[in-house]
Amino acid sequence: MTSNSDNPQEFEARRRAAREELNALDKAKFSDDANRAGFFNMVYQRAEGDGAQVPWADLAPKPQLAEWLAENPATGENMRAVDVACGLGDHAEAMAAAGYITTGFDIADQAISWAKERFPETKVSYSKGDLLNLPQEWVGNFDLVYECYTIQSVPEAMHAAISKAIASLVAPGGRLIVIARIRADDEEANGPPWHLNSQEYNIFKDLGFTRESESMYEVVRADKNIPHVFAVWRKVG
Ligand SMILES: C[S@@+](CC[C@H](N)C(=O)[O-])C[C@H]1O[C@@H](n2cnc3c(N)ncnc32)[C@H](O)[C@@H]1O
Repeated sequence: MTSNSDNPQEFEARRRAAREELNALDKAKFSDDANRAGFFNMVYQRAEGDGAQVPWADLAPKPQLAEWLAENPATGENMRAVDVACGLGDHAEAMAAAGYITTGFDIADQAISWAKERFPETKVSYSKGDLLNLPQEWVGNFDLVYECYTIQSVPEAMHAAISKAIASLVAPGGRLIVIARIRADDEEANGPPWHLNSQEYNIFKDLGFTRESESMYEVVRADKNIPHVFAVWRKVG
């Protein structure tokens, strides 16, 4: 398995090349697909086990999540967490390491089998699953829900439906963490990926949540800086 720490510059260069190739393929072939499962399975499959070929996979948890978990580990033995659209599993593993009983699911079965291979001793329960067709027993059942880059990965017309599905997983009094690329309200979404405007990343206010914290930051790339939001929401109990 490729690691992003062996040679970060080389990893980033290969990831940039993969991103460009996939962007062209995505725009030409997949971006109009409603659920885009075909695109995601294609990405994971064609990577053939090389993490640099999956442009969103850092092969490590996002530092913002890691810092938050260091300050907010599970406070009992029965706190449940879910990583929605978990990709290669790094975020789910971080939540499990912080003491949460953790579920990770993704619509791409290729991602799920790869995550299981990467973490053979895992305590995370990984499965294939569709946010838009959630098992009833998951609804309202998680103390912590983590969402990173899923909303922006589907066309704008689906953002509200995907956000509602994510919100539905949170138990009363539970928390929802959202990481997303954002855009100015007068900018076009112009995806994939379809960056969120302020109405989209604030939708949780209308879904029964209060905001505990929000920070804006930029991911710095060789060719551009990409504005992001990291927000923690609390479901009114
Ligand atoms: C940009 S990737 C982000 C993956 C992961 N959250 C991360 O941060 O590395 C978007 C992920 O959403 C998954 N996905 C897209 N639509 C989904 C849906 N309806 N239900 C579950 N997963 C979905 C894709 O398979 C893909 O793994």
